[in-house]
Amino acid sequence: MSDETLLEVSDLCAAYGRSQVLFDVGLTAPARGAVAVLGRNGAGKTTLMKTIIGEIKAGRGTIRFAGRDATHLPTEQRARLGLGYVPQEHAVFARLSVRENLAVGALGGRDRGGVDRVLAIFPKLGERLSQAAGTLSGGERKMLAISRALLGEPKLLLLDEPTEGVWIGVIEEIADRLRALAQEIAIVIVEQHLDLALSVAGRAYVLDRGRVALEGPSAEIRDDPRLLQFLAP
Ligand SMILES: Nc1ncnc2c1ncn2[C@@H]1O[C@H](COP(=O)(O)OP(=O)(O)OP(=O)(O)O)[C@@H](O)[C@H]1O
Ligand SMILES: [Mg+2]
Repeated sequence: MSDETLLEVSDLCAAYGRSQVLFDVGLTAPARGAVAVLGRNGAGKTTLMKTIIGEIKAGRGTIRFAGRDATHLPTEQRARLGLGYVPQEHAVFARLSVRENLAVGALGGRDRGGVDRVLAIFPKLGERLSQAAGTLSGGERKMLAISRALLGEPKLLLLDEPTEGVWIGVIEEIADRLRALAQEIAIVIVEQHLDLALSVAGRAYVLDRGRVALEGPSAEIRDDPRLLQFLAP
């Protein structure tokens, strides 16, 4: 495991028009291992992911990534530095086949063996190469979305709800793959399944109305009496 900091978000603020959603958020991720971002619906988790990737402009604060100040870099440049992103929604091209989705994902990758490697991680996709992505099960679609992001060979993967809409029997399979992946790269995972999130991630941040309300090692967060209050609707 490396302790070197890959992502360092400090005092980050973001807004939609006049409505501020993130307030002075701080978050760091080491070069390997996962950190979880928790919080009830509307807490600002997706907004935080989109601000880190550059889809939403930071109003204030800084985002350092891979030794660079990335706060004002365009999204493509952040991607080129090694920031990968699996959005909560619309992460695959529904009308393209699995094979075509992977081919598009592989465009930016330097390594030609990438598709074989992601199919080794998610063998189920290999059985569905000709199928339109829009007809995949929820779990298969998430696997395809993660695979596409991995083909860009990210140093850090931002995962926004990778098990949302996934059948319970497949959730553990995805969690397993993420645990293995976190041995090699950095992951920031937004996840509603608390046990899953805390089992994949070594550290966790809990957002409450756009502010970091709790942070620390997953084992401590799990036992913190305030946790359920911050997650309750
Ligand atoms: N495009 C937008 N325009 C205006 N407000 C928005 C927009 N997107 C999100 N918001 C608001 O920002 C707040 C945070 O939303 P966000 O999607 O970041 O929450 P979240 O923690 O990801 O929630 P969920 O668990 O439901 O995915 C919410 O109040 C939401 O209504
Ligand atoms: Mg969200």
